[in-house]
Amino acid sequence: MAEKRQFRAIKGVRDILPPETALWNRVEQTARDVFATYGYGEIRLPVFEQTELFARSVGADTDIVSREMYSFQDRDDTSVTLRPEATASVVRAYIEHGMHTLPGDVKLYYMGPMFRRERPQKGRYRQFYQIGAEVLGQSEHPAIDAEVVEMLVVFLGRLGLEGASLYINSIGCKDCRPAYVERLREELRKVKAKLGPDSQRRIETNPLRVLDSKLEEEQEVIERLPRITDHLCAACREHFSAVQDQLKLRGIAYEVNWRLVRGLDYYMRTTFEITAPGLGAQNAICGGGRYDGLVELLGGPPTKGIGFAIGTDRLVLALQATKKLDVGGQLDVFIAWIGVRGYPAAGQLARRLRAENFSVELPAEDMKLKKSLGLADKLGARYAVLLGENELASGQLILRRLADGEQKALSESELLASLKSERRA
Ligand code: HAM
Repeated sequence: MAEKRQFRAIKGVRDILPPETALWNRVEQTARDVFATYGYGEIRLPVFEQTELFARSVGADTDIVSREMYSFQDRDDTSVTLRPEATASVVRAYIEHGMHTLPGDVKLYYMGPMFRRERPQKGRYRQFYQIGAEVLGQSEHPAIDAEVVEMLVVFLGRLGLEGASLYINSIGCKDCRPAYVERLREELRKVKAKLGPDSQRRIETNPLRVLDSKLEEEQEVIERLPRITDHLCAACREHFSAVQDQLKLRGIAYEVNWRLVRGLDYYMRTTFEITAPGLGAQNAICGGGRYDGLVELLGGPPTKGIGFAIGTDRLVLALQATKKLDVGGQLDVFIAWIGVRGYPAAGQLARRLRAENFSVELPAEDMKLKKSLGLADKLGARYAVLLGENELASGQLILRRLADGEQKALSESELLASLKSERRA
């Protein structure tokens, strides 16, 4: 016989267990509900794609593509990659299914696992989850940017998330950004000696990313660098200012952060991020922005796009940190049946209660009453129903509230009515 061996989940990936999964379901269902009210439909995407799709859209020099992707040669020798993000896939699907012929803007949302080989820490995993939304169409109107942000704020508000901050920026377009990036590179070369190895490397590969640095010793230098907001072309400046007007119109509080450049190459103009307290270093629960031109880059017709992705793992952590959420998944009734004749009646009662959406625990084996009640208590049941010979004979069941031990003798219909009225209260 083979030697026994235990297995553990791979580093950076994890199981999500009940009762936490109830909170995940609540978060995902709230996203579905809110996004539907803004006219978004769900798109279900493949978990792997051709490697080239991500290299082209996210950008070959980004951290994601250059060192974090899970890529492998398929048996037919094509290179495929577990998706590190989903915007590229949405755009691929938009083109593949000719969605540009659909009336109005195409509004899509998705949720599911993403894969990046980052250094694991609190709030950062190698398999993590996103809830994302994308709008694709012909218009670049700033009201679209603001409505996307509004939807996000409404969603987080409905979950009761507290203390979140919204940061926005504009990173310009192909007309104004290249000149700014060159300016930035020149300035960075002058202060190169004061920067760490990562930033030094980025001066040549991707100078904008230096602005992202959280290294304490680089902060002073970075604060003195030229700011993109001072180098936008007239059209981008106007767009950025109109986005802010549109946010104000909606009463959405925000802060401009000129260093918010994002780590993916497809962005232009509006970028935004939301941070939440209680998460430590990985405090961005959502990132997004505009990506006009990405559809064309991937072989489609000229199209504008904007969207975001929420890191579900981090959002759940933030919700757990800010508030004790009653997420349901709680056991309503434990049926403490006694004696061989008790079991069929208990089974019937369990089916009736479950049909009314109560969660019911029906022990498979006969137990002493004391043991039953002890287990009911440990499982966190709100009620126990006592069902033994006496109850069978009288047709009166005992409903016991476990919090205080209060008991009532009730017929089956009265018991159901009592549980239902309590549920409404
Ligand atoms: P992103 O900023 O790379 O953007 O990721 C969005 C969010 O996913 C982050 O703010 C974070 O909450 C979460 N996240 C990223 N990496 C990890 C990780 N290793 N562990 C846990 N959570 C993580 C995008 O992915 C873009 N596709 C967003 C977008 C959609 N832009 C336009 N449309």
